[in-house]
Amino acid sequence: MGVTASAPAKVILFGEHFVVYGEPAIVLAINKRVYARAELRQDKQLHLRSANLNLSGYFKNGFFKNEQGNAKDAKLKFAPLKLAVEKILEIHGDNIGLTVEINSTVPAAADVGSSAAVAAAVTVAVSSLLGVKMSKEDVFRISCEAEKIVHGTPSGVDTAIATFGGTLLFQMDTGVKSLAANADVPLVIGDTGVGRSTRVQVAKVRNLKDKYPRVINPMMKTAREIVSRAVDALKDDDLESLGDLMNINHALLCGLGILDESLEWLINAARKAGALGAKLTGVGWWMHDSVGRK
Ligand code: MEV
Repeated sequence: MGVTASAPAKVILFGEHFVVYGEPAIVLAINKRVYARAELRQDKQLHLRSANLNLSGYFKNGFFKNEQGNAKDAKLKFAPLKLAVEKILEIHGDNIGLTVEINSTVPAAADVGSSAAVAAAVTVAVSSLLGVKMSKEDVFRISCEAEKIVHGTPSGVDTAIATFGGTLLFQMDTGVKSLAANADVPLVIGDTGVGRSTRVQVAKVRNLKDKYPRVINPMMKTAREIVSRAVDALKDDDLESLGDLMNINHALLCGLGILDESLEWLINAARKAGALGAKLTGVGWWMHDSVGRK
């Protein structure tokens, strides 16, 4: 017997990076999902397999044994999942053997929340299989613990959307609020293919903030105001304003020094092609999203 659960990937419309310092962000689930299937085993081992990454291995008595792919990569990818499973087993009270297989339609390392979606899908699949009752808040909490292993000090925005789905206003101290978005936003997500690290980029912004607090703090306030205006624009189906706000948000992110040339090129190309607005989404050095003309 097995249980399969899934969780969505995301795109941050407004507020990335600033959200790490308590400002709000608008994030929405996209139609790419991670699927996790959990099955019981007779032994006490935790076997993990990622079909897309061609990685597999198992944890036995706390030690990792690689079976497929690069051992270092596999251990790195599976460590957060081991933590999530351990948290569930703690609640369950028994040390049970499990096989967990991950299949995904989410591009990995493309900054659309793949690791958060994996953590949420695994948490739901394993807890359901073991009959451990969990609220969405419990899934969010456990997935956040797992994400900390991957990204250091994430805000939780990726985990929130992976857990709750829909269109959300997220803020670290107040949590999630579902947004009544009436706008049918024609959104294009582009991928420059240039790699990045969330941990490194977030640290870079933190250094800048520590060095120039009186410069960066007003930018935080502006980001907050952008999100507040964007909430209204989404409600009012006001695409022109959403585009303007994207462009302003992007200018703030440029100021944080998290763009590379290919990202700038892609954003300019989107604007030239008629996008009402274009900005990077997520960590930076990587993607843009844009609102097109109707
Ligand atoms: C990553 O998807 C979004 C960032 O704001 C980091 C975070 O919120 O943890 C860059």
